[in-house]
Amino acid sequence: MRVLGIDVGGSGIKGAPVDTRSGRLLAPRLRVETPDPATPAAVTRAVVRITRHFAWTGPIGCGVPAAVRDGVFLTAANVDPRWIGTDARALFARATRRRVAIINDADAAGYAEMTFGAGRGRTGLVILVTLGTGIGTALFINGHLVPNTELGHLELDGAEAEARASAKVRKHARLSWKKWAHRVDDYLQALQRYFWPDLIVVGGGVSRKADKFFPRLSVAETVEVVPARLQNDAGIVGAALAYEHTVRRGRQRLALGATARLRPR
Ligand code: BGC
Repeated sequence: MRVLGIDVGGSGIKGAPVDTRSGRLLAPRLRVETPDPATPAAVTRAVVRITRHFAWTGPIGCGVPAAVRDGVFLTAANVDPRWIGTDARALFARATRRRVAIINDADAAGYAEMTFGAGRGRTGLVILVTLGTGIGTALFINGHLVPNTELGHLELDGAEAEARASAKVRKHARLSWKKWAHRVDDYLQALQRYFWPDLIVVGGGVSRKADKFFPRLSVAETVEVVPARLQNDAGIVGAALAYEHTVRRGRQRLALGATARLRPR
């Protein structure tokens, strides 16, 4: 299946057509700046721009930095608060005239890593952590996603983890790699204490620079911790996969004889 994957991030909105079977991008990705303020109307314009750039006529999968249910934003930690309660699926579908699926951005990256990257074939409990503008998490149990975990908001030393250890904080507070790695280590130690995962995958753009902080992660003595493989493309590829999953789930419902029609999303 070919799906336009779009990753709405705190600083950039990136998109590319994806072959969901191979996880390959079918064209170089396009990145546009995230509008400031990132209101529903402004972000929708960016999504339309990306769709037009690729002259895209197929379906769209879109990852967003919030907990979402049935396309509706439930939270808005790093985007405009006007998103809360907004049906992004309906909004983007109307504006692009395409079928759309919406998924949390970290869940999308998790799908991509579990299918094509560092988590491929892994069972047990796998947690993917994305270190970017915020901290996102995706939790998989035997390959099944438990959606919308918001573990970047766990409290660490009296503050939210993402306010102490996101990649943005490292840059803004001009922390040395050593100091920041220490904070990331504290955070991963907390995940270890609470969840005892079999594998932690660390993603986000900063996973490209794994050599700068991985050697300082003492948590790796008690749990396997690896950098994400798809790095910056994970969000795009995973958003495309999310569309495919929603279609498959719809078909399953039909096969089970449910009355629900396969709604174009
Ligand atoms: C949001 C999450 C998101 C993460 C990464 C957090 O602030 O609450 O939903 O996955 O940032 O973008």
